[in-house]
Amino acid sequence: MRRSRAKVGASLLAAVFALSRLRAFLTFTAGSPDRSWSPQLRHPQRGLRSRLCALASTTEENAWQRFAEWVAARGGDMANVEIADIDGMRGLVAARDIAENTSIVEIPLTASIDISEPGNDADPSAPALNLLKFLDDPELKPYMDLLPGRTSPDISRMPDFFSEEELEMLQCPEVVQKTHRRQQLCATRADESSLDTEDVKWALCTVAQRAFSVVSPIDGLLRLLLPGIDLFNHDAHALHEMRVRWTLQGLVTATFKVVARSPIKKGEEIRICYGGDPFRPDGCGGDCTGDMALTNAAYLQRYGFVDDCFGTTMVDGKWLVKPESEPIRESLAATSAEEDEKLLSDSSLSIPAKTAIQFRRQLKIALKAQQEADALKAKAEAAKSEEQKQAEREAKEKAEEEARLKEANAEEARRQLFAALEEK
Ligand SMILES: *[C@@H]1O[C@H](CO)[C@@H](O)[C@H](O)[C@H]1NC(C)=O
Repeated sequence: MRRSRAKVGASLLAAVFALSRLRAFLTFTAGSPDRSWSPQLRHPQRGLRSRLCALASTTEENAWQRFAEWVAARGGDMANVEIADIDGMRGLVAARDIAENTSIVEIPLTASIDISEPGNDADPSAPALNLLKFLDDPELKPYMDLLPGRTSPDISRMPDFFSEEELEMLQCPEVVQKTHRRQQLCATRADESSLDTEDVKWALCTVAQRAFSVVSPIDGLLRLLLPGIDLFNHDAHALHEMRVRWTLQGLVTATFKVVARSPIKKGEEIRICYGGDPFRPDGCGGDCTGDMALTNAAYLQRYGFVDDCFGTTMVDGKWLVKPESEPIRESLAATSAEEDEKLLSDSSLSIPAKTAIQFRRQLKIALKAQQEADALKAKAEAAKSEEQKQAEREAKEKAEEEARLKEANAEEARRQLFAALEEK
């Protein structure tokens, strides 16, 4: 299944990152023992790194150590970062100061895990089934040990694991329908391969959260797990960049790196942007679609979270005011913002219910903001055309006045000319 890369002869022109989005954060509660980390004691005696961030336990630290060594043995470099618990969320912090324009982490292609299914790019269950086949590969254990398990918050936040009632709480028929299709696909694949549907769903969600789509100059579209790079949390405003460099030296190789686009201090958490934002310096400025700027429906279905940054709110707003979004607007109108706030203040709310309510609350905020912006714009348009009419009237009067003057001048010129002629 791992494809040979020793194919020769292709030119090395385009090497484009299609979707470089992943997510990996959060600590784990009780989960399947082999893939989650148990609750931990902190160890303040080590005075770790920063106020915010501290490695949560010896278990976690050991797992990270094993992982970092494993990455290094495969030719990668994780020495600039370490895993940390940041307000209950797992993420990467700088282990030392990192200068602007230098690599934060690097992973060679040979350290990636190829879960592509050649000729079947469109079926999201194909790489998921491949991931399941790799799961017990002893060679990959240090990485697989870091993957959030089925009962981890990372996975519980994915709509695929919501109950019907929790799906309804999203108040977004489009997401519910898509989730049903994904659930059905997982059930079908599990049936065909005599697997547990829940395992296939876990794999599909893990791939959605963590796999990168990369266009190789030789193999075309690849779905890759890039161990370590999938541990950065998301921040729509993060400037640090994912880069890939392909080289052809007998065989095709590539290096994936995250490059610092601002200086990073030791102990700071480092994040990357999964989904773009129209208002980033490299953003499209307005009507971007696809990976240039994700809607919250995409954030939720890929990563299981809701992004409340300004750019995403604008992208959601533009999506929600479209005529075809009428069923979503109708569905959102069933509850009020006040009801959502009240429900969210209940600390006993389950993770899926909380995620669903955060999602619909954010959609309502975006829809309202867009409708208000559109109303203002329409008003401005109306006012502007009134001004324009006035300006046109003034311009016309001015032109008539100029024409009168010109005619008067010409008349005067003619009169002077006749007078001069008469004098002769
Ligand atoms: C980093 O790279 C950018 C773009 O090439 C450049 O403008 C900037 O000055 C560089 N910063 C440093 C500290 O070298």
